[in-house]
Amino acid sequence: MDQWEQLRQQCMSCRACGLADTRTNVVFGVGDPRAEVLLVGEAPGASEDRQGEPFVGAAGKLLDDMLAMIGLRRQQIYITNSVKCRPPQNRDPLPAESEACMPWLREQFRLLHPKIVVCLGRVAAQRMIRQDFSVTREHGQIIEKGGILFMGTFHPAALLRQPQNKPEAFADFTVLRDTIAAVCEHTYHK
Ligand code: URA
Ligand code: SF4
Repeated sequence: MDQWEQLRQQCMSCRACGLADTRTNVVFGVGDPRAEVLLVGEAPGASEDRQGEPFVGAAGKLLDDMLAMIGLRRQQIYITNSVKCRPPQNRDPLPAESEACMPWLREQFRLLHPKIVVCLGRVAAQRMIRQDFSVTREHGQIIEKGGILFMGTFHPAALLRQPQNKPEAFADFTVLRDTIAAVCEHTYHK
């Protein structure tokens, strides 16, 4: 078994925080374990919890459309969340839950060593880019940290509530496309 599959199986039985008691499925992630591009959302919702896959509800449909717009399918990238189990009633993850879950994302990050990381929404961006990251002010900017390129953009669920931000979000995705074309080797070639 490869390291990725080993990590996935360990994660699937994780009980490191209270969300283990209310989840249906751990949502480890979806896509290519050798992806050059990693997308990180917040936490699973009801559909994700039921199906065990990230972004399969209404927000996920929008995300798929935005990916399609820049010529990407799920299999060409990797998509996960900063918290792997659904918080009840979709409340924000508690700080203790985010902390407890962080090692999984850290290991995914270490094994993938992505070239580009896209943070979907404030929660992921503040965790992965900077604690005071502002999506409103800094979305779409490419931020280099330790040789890896990060971008924060709008969360697709936020775009469903505030569709006036969609043009800016689409513009961020075209920046993503151009950045992939500039630095990735195989993302657009399979
Ligand atoms: N919102 C997220 O942040 N992640 C999902 O997987 C679904 C909705
Ligand atoms: Fe484990 Fe993360 Fe699920 Fe908590 S949310 S039980 S830490 S996988």
